Amino acid sequence: MEKELEKLEAEAKEFLSNLEETSQIEDFRVRFLGRKGQFSTIMRSLGSVPAEDKPRLGQLANTIKAEIEQLFEEKTKDLQSQSAHLGKKNLPDLTLPGRRPAQGTLHPVTQVMQETCSIFESLGFSVAEGPDVEVDYYNFEALNIPAHHPARDMHDTFYVSDSVLLRTHTSPMQARVMEAQDPPLRVIAPGKVYRCDSDITHTPMFHQVEGVLVDKNISFADLKGILTVFTQKMFEKDLPLRFRPSFFPFTEPSAEVDIACVMCNGVGCRVCKKTGWLEILGSGMIDPEVFKMVGYDPKVYSGFAFGLGIERIAMLKYGIDDIRLFYENDQRFLSQF
Ligand code: PHE
Repeated sequence: MEKELEKLEAEAKEFLSNLEETSQIEDFRVRFLGRKGQFSTIMRSLGSVPAEDKPRLGQLANTIKAEIEQLFEEKTKDLQSQSAHLGKKNLPDLTLPGRRPAQGTLHPVTQVMQETCSIFESLGFSVAEGPDVEVDYYNFEALNIPAHHPARDMHDTFYVSDSVLLRTHTSPMQARVMEAQDPPLRVIAPGKVYRCDSDITHTPMFHQVEGVLVDKNISFADLKGILTVFTQKMFEKDLPLRFRPSFFPFTEPSAEVDIACVMCNGVGCRVCKKTGWLEILGSGMIDPEVFKMVGYDPKVYSGFAFGLGIERIAMLKYGIDDIRLFYENDQRFLSQF
């Protein structure tokens, strides 16, 4: 029996020293320390040893068992703390602040477009949209720009065919809206326009918002009033506006409206081409010839029209000095809006 105990002790120690996974802990316990384990078996056989050997063998068995139990306990603790440590490494740190999903924003041009529309809607205008691919008739003829008219040269037109083109302005919507509706009317027409032109203040595609207001007794003062309210609301301050006499075949008289260059505060810089002013729109009183073509009586009605350049307004509003930034899709630029 002494031999058996010593053998068991050696086996148990060996098993323990090879024990590497927490799953083996239970195996060990069952095999050595459990009720049906090897120690219990030996202890039971203690009944059949000679009485004079009992105390000594009993004590020896107890000492060995206590020793093994202690080793077992230490090993268990070791393994458990090891695996807890490993587990910690693999688990996410739940105390870290969450990562927000990246959130998109509207393009600055879209934002200014929407804001422009809502300012005019608050002034009683309704919104109409027309085609980007336009026929010559609406882009030119109906606007009093017949074939071979020198004004066509100003437009740098992209032609699709002889009579089809990419609209060079939103003004074709003046003719379309007036053809479709009788006066009085107040309509804006936002959209894309195209010109074969590219530098720091021009891109081949840009956005305009056309405005048309027709009623009895409409004067240039109404045009000035509406545009002044618009710029005040858009720029949230009293910016100097400059009405410059100009010419468009479809308005008479005509004016181009400039706003003080916010980039240089009117001093003169590359954006305003040293003038201190930036043109933001063309406008004027609708030419009687245009009225005649859509069947309005110019003796009864008068009206004004304007075409706003949205990128120009966005540049001024946000202090952007190169229009091309809008179309380079650089996240570092776009995510600022
Ligand atoms: N369509 C003109 C342009 O793009 C602007 C304009 C619109 C002028 C309406 C007068 C009236 O330059």
